[in-house]
Amino acid sequence: MLKIVDLNKKFYPGTPEEHTVFENFSIDIEENVCTTILGPNGCGKSTLFNMISGSIKNDSGEIVLNEKNIETLAEQERALFIGKVSQDPSMGVSPSLNIMENMSLAVKKGEKFTFKKLVKRENVDGIVKSLKELDLGLEDKLNTQVKFLSGGQRQSLSLLMATIKRPDLLLLDEHTAALDPKTSKLIMDKTNDLIKKEKITTLMITHNLKHAIDYSDRIIMLNKGKIVLDIKANQITEEELAKVYNEKIAEMM
Ligand SMILES: Nc1ncnc2c1ncn2[C@@H]1O[C@H](COP(=O)(O)OP(=O)(O)OP(=O)(O)O)[C@@H](O)[C@H]1O
Ligand SMILES: [Mg+2]
Repeated sequence: MLKIVDLNKKFYPGTPEEHTVFENFSIDIEENVCTTILGPNGCGKSTLFNMISGSIKNDSGEIVLNEKNIETLAEQERALFIGKVSQDPSMGVSPSLNIMENMSLAVKKGEKFTFKKLVKRENVDGIVKSLKELDLGLEDKLNTQVKFLSGGQRQSLSLLMATIKRPDLLLLDEHTAALDPKTSKLIMDKTNDLIKKEKITTLMITHNLKHAIDYSDRIIMLNKGKIVLDIKANQITEEELAKVYNEKIAEMM
């Protein structure tokens, strides 16, 4: 479904700060599978997502989604079939617009932008229905500016906006990391419901080993831009995963 072949990425090439993040990195991601990417800070997880979504250009290599080479497409073009939710609550939403306006933007993604008719009457019922299904009361706050929502409410809205047009691929970059444990679990449950219901192929970055096991089908661990572990989530317990995780980091020190 997603095939990455011989990907290379260096930051600041030819300068004293030159830093290779990926060298001939390859991976295959199956359709309708939720894959978690684990790995220590700075190992390249977000850079990988950024190269897939197009916010960072890869130096060489291929990124093929549904048999189509996508590296030549701009980020906005890829956004039509790749949804993304980041840890940063201000990404993916327009803080000064209200919930209905933000949802309308998501529904109209790819259409010509006209602010005058941002909220189209024919879209309102569908938007309210999706918000209701999320079951967090956002449908009662349609006119609230998104900057006034709590972190959890904003992340759920971001998630809904990223999935409302059913992307081919959903990228979740630590999307619950800034939330308290209870809200984080709640958003993970909502995420799981959404991706299972819509059958969305998902790549998720997290540092939460329990979430990796509970919510994904496949777990991949990166270290220094290399895959050091690739297993089915149901083959391992949280304790075993923690042990392997630490061993893999120690091996590469
Ligand atoms: N736009 C950029 N310009 C220069 N260097 C960058 C850029 N983005 C990432 N890097 C560097 O690439 C390396 C990998 O960073 P990345 O953000 O991918 O790590 P990560 O695995 O997501 O870490 P974390 O778990 O802390 O989020 C780091 O050394 C980082 O400083
Ligand atoms: Mg990161």
